[in-house]
Amino acid sequence: MTDTSTKYIKVWDRFVRIFHWTLVLLISIAAISGFLLRPTWINLHVLAGSLVALLLIARIVWGVLGSENARFTSFVKGPTEVFKHIREIRSKTAARHLGHNPLGALMIIALLGTIFWLTLTGVSTLGGIFKTGPFGFATSFQFGSLSFSIHSVLAYFLLFLIVMHLAGAAYESWRTRENLVKSIINGKKESREGDHHATERRPRPILSSFLIAGLVGALIWAAIWLTAKPPFGVPVATPNPVYQEECSACHIAYPPSLLPAHNWGNLMAGLSDHFGEDASLSQATVDEITTWLFQNASDSVDTKPAHVFSRVNPESPFAITQTPFWKNTHRAIPDAVFTRPPIYDNGNCVACHSDAESGAFYPANISIPKETTQ
Ligand code: HEC
Ligand code: HEC
Repeated sequence: MTDTSTKYIKVWDRFVRIFHWTLVLLISIAAISGFLLRPTWINLHVLAGSLVALLLIARIVWGVLGSENARFTSFVKGPTEVFKHIREIRSKTAARHLGHNPLGALMIIALLGTIFWLTLTGVSTLGGIFKTGPFGFATSFQFGSLSFSIHSVLAYFLLFLIVMHLAGAAYESWRTRENLVKSIINGKKESREGDHHATERRPRPILSSFLIAGLVGALIWAAIWLTAKPPFGVPVATPNPVYQEECSACHIAYPPSLLPAHNWGNLMAGLSDHFGEDASLSQATVDEITTWLFQNASDSVDTKPAHVFSRVNPESPFAITQTPFWKNTHRAIPDAVFTRPPIYDNGNCVACHSDAESGAFYPANISIPKETTQ
């Protein structure tokens, strides 16, 4: 006799399933752009991360007001229950949970918690290191660097959790002879005797929708409002027409925030032999430019370039392109790229960094131009 009597019950509502697979997609995009792609993909990474944050808000609301198996109070269990479940698995007496079992629930909390801290440290990395995003107005480079370290560790930890989550789902599928991947796609599980059912509570979809829309709207509004504030540690340099005029004849007028005052001082003192060129100027002009360079030098600026280029190469202390950071970051670019038109020279930062004049050098603003005919 074929078994036509198998009954299915709805376990995962539509919200939970859409949440699950959207999260899978967004985390994949964030992981690929974060681990594998060049930093020039940062906008995609930030977009994926921001959407993850919004998705988390929706999940938290639904975890309070959603259908039974979506609710935190229905699956989050204390250590007693977790250990009991482990003992029951070992003695092969564990009942099947239609929703998350106590161990699975632990994993959900670990995943959601890790993802929450990933989005938060992502925003403070963006703020501290790149002076943009909602925390850009208040976060120092140092704090951004610390955030980035935590962000990286958490990213690897999340990969580990995902592997464990997949292993757990595979094990539970094997243990209960039921394809759990299928059930998070169609939302159904076979109804069997002895299943561990949770008491049904009524979902509140309309209230949830309003709450989610309100919270998401408020967060987006706050993010836009905060992002518009002036960035921390980035004083607005009043452009100096003399500098612009005298120092842009042979190369771009380098943003003063790229070198420390000390180096600018020495560079300005040796203009008669300036990288093999005579770039001499009258003493009055030298003084005026030097004063302005001092005021806007990297010492008082908190951007990433100001920090990374302050470690100069002692053999060539004025050349930005000779700093360890510059050489390292541009190592993968063949020398021939720098000499071909329209770039001509590695000091021609603006050819590839559209925001070079401001000193920002945001990775999303990098693009190597195609070769042109002279
Ligand atoms: C006569 C042409 C000329 C003028 C004028 C000139 N420079 Fe230069 N500058 C050069 C050359 C050539 C180099 C070396 C470029 C290279 O090696 O890539 C250079 C390199 C530099 C570098 C290092 C850039 C790098 O590649 O790391 C800085 C900083 C710099 N100049 C600042 C200035 C300042 C400030 C002024 C104005 C006072 C100035 N330059 C005026 C020709 C000039
Ligand atoms: C031929 C194009 C090109 C030129 C010219 C160039 N860069 Fe870059 N730069 C790049 C690329 C590409 C990257 C990204 C490297 C990577 O993928 O990690 C980069 C990365 C950087 C970064 C790191 C950005 C970040 O935070 O991830 C800084 C800072 C930087 N460049 C500064 C400079 C400065 C200063 C100059 C001029 C002295 C310059 N670059 C000239 C192509 C160029």
